[in-house]
Amino acid sequence: LSRQQLFVNQVLTQSAQTEPFEAKKTQGTGKAPVNIALSKYWGKRDIELNLPLNGSVSISLPGLGTETEISLIEAAEDKVLLNNEPLPAEHAFAKRVSKFLDLFRGGDNQHFAINTYNSVPTAAGLASSASGYAALVLALNDLFDWQLNGQQLSLLARLGSGSASRSLFNGFALWHKGENENGLDSFAEAIDTKWPEFCIGLVEVDIKEKPLSSTQGMQNTVNTCDLYQAWPEQANRDMQSIIEAIQTKDFAALGKTAEHNALSMHATMIATWPPIVYWQAESVTAMHKVWQLREQGIEIFFTMDAGPNLKLLFLEKQKPAIKQAFGDIRIIEPFKD
Ligand code: DP6
Repeated sequence: LSRQQLFVNQVLTQSAQTEPFEAKKTQGTGKAPVNIALSKYWGKRDIELNLPLNGSVSISLPGLGTETEISLIEAAEDKVLLNNEPLPAEHAFAKRVSKFLDLFRGGDNQHFAINTYNSVPTAAGLASSASGYAALVLALNDLFDWQLNGQQLSLLARLGSGSASRSLFNGFALWHKGENENGLDSFAEAIDTKWPEFCIGLVEVDIKEKPLSSTQGMQNTVNTCDLYQAWPEQANRDMQSIIEAIQTKDFAALGKTAEHNALSMHATMIATWPPIVYWQAESVTAMHKVWQLREQGIEIFFTMDAGPNLKLLFLEKQKPAIKQAFGDIRIIEPFKD
């Protein structure tokens, strides 16, 4: 058995089922939100088990995410549909999903039909792989009636995509880096704070597919970027500061740490070889706009992931000022939507 298969089997010993890969109904469904990291995950210490070099904290965006339906089929291969479009088996997304599903087959000729509906553009730096694998694991949990809890589901989603470990939860979530090399303590859990005034604005610079996957990008960074040495320590410190800022509702501290953390991650990307620059000219223009607004006393910060789009962080009272500066952007209120 591969290390991944062993890991899955270990998690599934917690399942309510003795035959965990036997369908208990004809179709399983799952639904999960995308999440945006406030302190980022960038770099793995174990590629096979998808163990991160640092912990991270995120906020989920309800209303944006993935819904997945899954069933067993009599066929020679999986049938993967994305937003109702059948994908050729050699499509990168279909291949990645099938490889993940290899860990959940009752036998070599057990195949799945998977239909994935995304309400976010796939791979545009809006973390559709996060909601995708979280929804897929929820759908499997439903199909096979495992009855796993949030932590256990998070462990399984992590194998599909690290950030997916955080998409099992609404609101703020914390992904523990974990210490054990068996990977069983590297899961996410919800942070139990509701912050109704918390807003996120999406500045969509470009929604085209990103040129380089996070998986490949972070590996290149770990392998070639000298600055990266400083990253895990800063990231873990930032994570602690953000958790504290959430618990004390200190928005200024949260925003400052999140923006600094995102720019530090991008600094390691830029200092990778070959360079990883997800920014476009309009991304930088939007950053300057944020900094100008801050100079005028408006509390607004941004974060960015593996793409050119900015995610603005602000409190409800700043909505009019944000709308005036950025026009008709999509605003999400994670605790109200
Ligand atoms: C920049 O979770 O997509 O969004 O584990 O290889 O699938 P894999 O990577 P992924 O990386 C996300 C990177 C990020 C930061 C974050 O979400 O924490």
